Amino acid sequence: MAKLWSGRFQKSTDKKVDDFNSSIRFDKRMYRQDINGSVAHAEMLGRQGIIPHEDSEKIVAELKNILQDIEDGKIEFEIDAEDIHMNIEKILTERIGDAGKRLHTGRSRNDQVALDIRMYLMDEISQIREMLIHALDTLVSLAKEHTETIMPGYTHLQKAQPVTFAHHLMAYFEMFKRDLSRLDDCKKRTNVMPLGSGALAGTTYPLDREYVAERLGFESVTQNSLDGVSDRDFVIELASCLSIIMMHMSRFSEELILWSSHEFSFVEMDDAFSTGSSIMPQKKNPDVAELIRGKTGRVYGHLMGLLTTMKGIPLAYNKDMQEDKEPIFDAVDTVKLCLPVFCDMIATMTVKKDNMLKGSKGGFTNATDVADYLVKKGLPFREAHAVVGRMVFYSIEHDKALDDLTMDEFKEFSNIIEDDIYNAISMETCVNDRKVIGAPAKEIVEQAILSAENFLKTV
Ligand code: ARG
Repeated sequence: MAKLWSGRFQKSTDKKVDDFNSSIRFDKRMYRQDINGSVAHAEMLGRQGIIPHEDSEKIVAELKNILQDIEDGKIEFEIDAEDIHMNIEKILTERIGDAGKRLHTGRSRNDQVALDIRMYLMDEISQIREMLIHALDTLVSLAKEHTETIMPGYTHLQKAQPVTFAHHLMAYFEMFKRDLSRLDDCKKRTNVMPLGSGALAGTTYPLDREYVAERLGFESVTQNSLDGVSDRDFVIELASCLSIIMMHMSRFSEELILWSSHEFSFVEMDDAFSTGSSIMPQKKNPDVAELIRGKTGRVYGHLMGLLTTMKGIPLAYNKDMQEDKEPIFDAVDTVKLCLPVFCDMIATMTVKKDNMLKGSKGGFTNATDVADYLVKKGLPFREAHAVVGRMVFYSIEHDKALDDLTMDEFKEFSNIIEDDIYNAISMETCVNDRKVIGAPAKEIVEQAILSAENFLKTV
């Protein structure tokens, strides 16, 4: 079969090169964007009198039929026609003849592919955005149930100070909220219309680029034709946003995996979100969380791959850039696969409140509060720190928690300690006296939840 560009060639392409060069296998997923872009381009060509009106109308009508036929599964794309752009143009020309041959006036596949990928990724960003909002909703609903669920907070994975599970969940709320704003920001830079850049140097036809942009819902048009066809920053930026989303899901997954262990036993994944072992009958494994953690690696890999693909290519379009699609498509698919399963996994897990509370009690998580107690009674903080350090050493020797010490024992360390110490260093007080903005006290987390709910009404 003759290629659309075969005029200056004496030989047909080697079969191996056809396969090697072709991107239809993976770029066919942009068929809708390709057709919508062509419809807008054809309409504009007609309006500007660049091609006859009747041709423009024929093109638009037939492109719509082709779209329907693709959606009905009636069309088989051909490897020989290279990519989605030439496949559709070829089908169009086979169906309407000369009019179809006029579609590509004032356009190159270089600006066409730049347009398609921008439109495709904007659609994906919108879908991922909805999924992120669902994750934010899930975190807030779960947090509402756990404003009194005390658990140990860690630093260095060593018990540090008590927090609540709601507070921990709301930390992830903040992370995913930033992810949402990063996606919106990335969308702004993706939302620029490149058609009219031509192959690299614009075109001599009086194209109305702004009309095409408006028709396709873009906010603006690219301002330099070389940049218009060469820019893949937005692809890399999205890969970076997706990597950060995965990183956040992976961190939480890692915690859930740890917490599912017998040693922690803070949570138990629902049976529907766990798997067993083929040999060990007792096993219940948090595979879903592990797979999310594992898939994070492939998304990071795509980000690095894209950066590397782009780093050495001179302006303007180079075929290397066809390699942008598989990584970004896979990164998008992976995030879309992970987010819903992540939400359902956390929504259905059992939270073992008693174990969390028990966990918060060991490990001297209230040591800071004993020191703060002494400070409030007049001791300078550094001295209080040293006194409590000695108390902790004593308690370890005697296998006690700080709140297990008797009044006589306390007095050994400092005679300013009185009976009110017990209340001052209970887990409940440790949590609920922490009332600065962003702290774990019940009333403060409730305020955070309220503002989260208000935020969710605006997105
Ligand atoms: N399939 C190509 C891509 O994805 C389309 C652009 C091809 N342009 C060209 N001059 N070969 O990048």
